[in-house]
Amino acid sequence: MSNFPPAELDAIARQIQTPYYAYSVQAIRARIASLQNAFRGLDVRICYAVKANSNLAILQLMALHGVGADIVSLGEMQRSLKAGIPAERIVFSGVGKIAEEIDAALAAGVWRFNVESADELQLLQRVACSRGVCARAAVRINPDVDARTHAKISTGKAENKFGVSIDEARRWFADAASLDHVQLDGLHAHIGSQILDLEPFRLALQRVEAFRRELVEAGHAIASVDIGGGLGVVYRPGIDTPIEIADYAALVRDTFAEFKGTLALEPGRWLVAEAGVLVTRAIRVKHGTDRQFLVVDAAMNDLLRPSLYDAWHQIVPLHGRDEPDVAYDVVGPVCETGDTFAQGRAMPRCEAGDLLMIGGAGAYGASMGSTYNSRPLPAEVLLDDGRYAVIRRRQTIAEMMAGEQFPQAWHET
Ligand code: LLP
Repeated sequence: MSNFPPAELDAIARQIQTPYYAYSVQAIRARIASLQNAFRGLDVRICYAVKANSNLAILQLMALHGVGADIVSLGEMQRSLKAGIPAERIVFSGVGKIAEEIDAALAAGVWRFNVESADELQLLQRVACSRGVCARAAVRINPDVDARTHAKISTGKAENKFGVSIDEARRWFADAASLDHVQLDGLHAHIGSQILDLEPFRLALQRVEAFRRELVEAGHAIASVDIGGGLGVVYRPGIDTPIEIADYAALVRDTFAEFKGTLALEPGRWLVAEAGVLVTRAIRVKHGTDRQFLVVDAAMNDLLRPSLYDAWHQIVPLHGRDEPDVAYDVVGPVCETGDTFAQGRAMPRCEAGDLLMIGGAGAYGASMGSTYNSRPLPAEVLLDDGRYAVIRRRQTIAEMMAGEQFPQAWHET
């Protein structure tokens, strides 16, 4: 967490209060550069998975470095376009696309649709036909591979709702000629998230490549292969051993050595997770019967991952005391037992008013935030070389309530 000097975080906390998210521009730039370097020489499009962190300023950083977007909603599309990501660098994923979304994405001119069901393929054909255009599409293959990650973020097993089997995809290509408004010439696979082991990727990519060769032999042109995201990051220093990006790139190069088209990547977490911290202030230490509770001013509505996935995040007090560690249950103010960031975590003794940073918060942190317990959304800042810029000001309570109203009129149903 060397990108987050305590004195800077402290100074920012005094100016904008807590909790707030801080993201390091340098850390994000470094990740983009190492990904781009690892794949240099290949025809590769990096399409950042917007869901990981969808702040406009983060998306603008991606745009400035030539990174595109992997989107799953019109909201994510609008954000990406507004931040300067060109439509031709946007892929549209997701199992639940509706006609309105497909129509708007066609109007914007997105690069391609990652199609996940036969029904969606038919819908794409109808919407493209009524627009008088031809939609570019890739079929999302479910390679039936166990990504060996948390069950809630595993997507590549046959029992998951994502993608279609190779058998079904084979039928789509056989019938592709009947779809005169869809150009089905791509393959896509995304097997899960926070993957720390190269083998599931190897298995999935080999299945995709074997199928691609089969399709080419059957006379189908395949212009792009999108290998999804999923690269894991270090949440627990010294324990999590992430995949070396060079090894991942070598696997992709070897597997697709014979492929002449465009490869797409959809990394989310890997680009931003370790580039962000959530800064929170201790409200009080509460001495329970058996446990010491460190009550902080951030909560599960700000960072949901520990509550939802039992995810382990590093928690570091900014001002360590030269005393033996204490074991704390670090909890937020929300009225749920699950509002717990860590249990029995050994750390320097804390007092009310101390600042702490929660690591690995750059991905799936702010973007999964809510206003549960009517807690306004926190502020977000970018750090760059000793300076900071607010990229989302703290929501006010009035803004949080905006859009709600007392019944003005009652309508017949
Ligand atoms: N592509 C597709 C189609 C996806 O569904 C996802 C993530 C990604 C790419 C990016 O995956 P990444 O590179 O970030 O692993 N909220 C969870 C993670 C959910 C991931 C959903 N899909 C968490 O906090 O761990």
